[in-house]
Amino acid sequence: MTRGCFITLEGGDGAGKTLQTARLCAALEASGIETLSTREPGGSPGAEEIRHLLVSGPVERWDPLTEAMLHAAARHDHMLRTIEPALGRGLWVVSDRFVDSMIVYQGHGQGADLALLERLTALSLKDFRPDLTVVLDIPVSEGLRRAGGRGGGSRYERMDTGFHERVREGFLARARADGERYAVVDATPNLESVSRAILEIVAARLPVSFNG
Ligand SMILES: Nc1ncnc2c1ncn2[C@@H]1O[C@H](COP(=O)(O)OP(=O)(O)O)[C@@H](O)[C@H]1O
Ligand SMILES: [Mg+2]
Repeated sequence: MTRGCFITLEGGDGAGKTLQTARLCAALEASGIETLSTREPGGSPGAEEIRHLLVSGPVERWDPLTEAMLHAAARHDHMLRTIEPALGRGLWVVSDRFVDSMIVYQGHGQGADLALLERLTALSLKDFRPDLTVVLDIPVSEGLRRAGGRGGGSRYERMDTGFHERVREGFLARARADGERYAVVDATPNLESVSRAILEIVAARLPVSFNG
């Protein structure tokens, strides 16, 4: 059994990650690849319980390093219980957010030490990393406007504009530093155009082709 590929979609709030994760999974399925769609924080029963601690409640609820450790604990469970077993069975896995969100939100956004976050990543994931990470890039005001339209603002969506600007720059900096694993897609055009751009990248980098 050939191991599946692991793709993550990253980017700020309202960039379209959740919708594009579903569209990418549908396109992969249509081309004959069995897929698993998942998300962070969450993606396994234990990690979904931790998610609740992270996305609800007051903005100042956690110290950034405490918060990062909660994310890392959730991710360890998600990787062990959900992602690894699926990849081992040959499924392709698409995750709506993964480790880059922790490094960028808690590091660039909230000021946790980036070297400590890399150590936390090494501890929780060892050398497990996505095969491809697509960063959906959108101006902060447009992302928050879209997310606002969705209603029920999460704890992260309630953080200030400076935080969201640092998050956007953090994702772009990580993508610039490793062009092999990352690709940046302009998330401002309509849903269909963004989907097409994502599929082009996936087909160029991974062993799949999409018809039509
Ligand atoms: N390309 C797009 N053009 C217009 N609206 C979009 C686009 N992508 C997403 N949206 C809308 O923006 C909101 C946030 O999308 P969502 O997929 O939930 O973003 P994220 O998961 O990145 O926060 C939703 O209401 C969605 O319908
Ligand atoms: Mg989402």
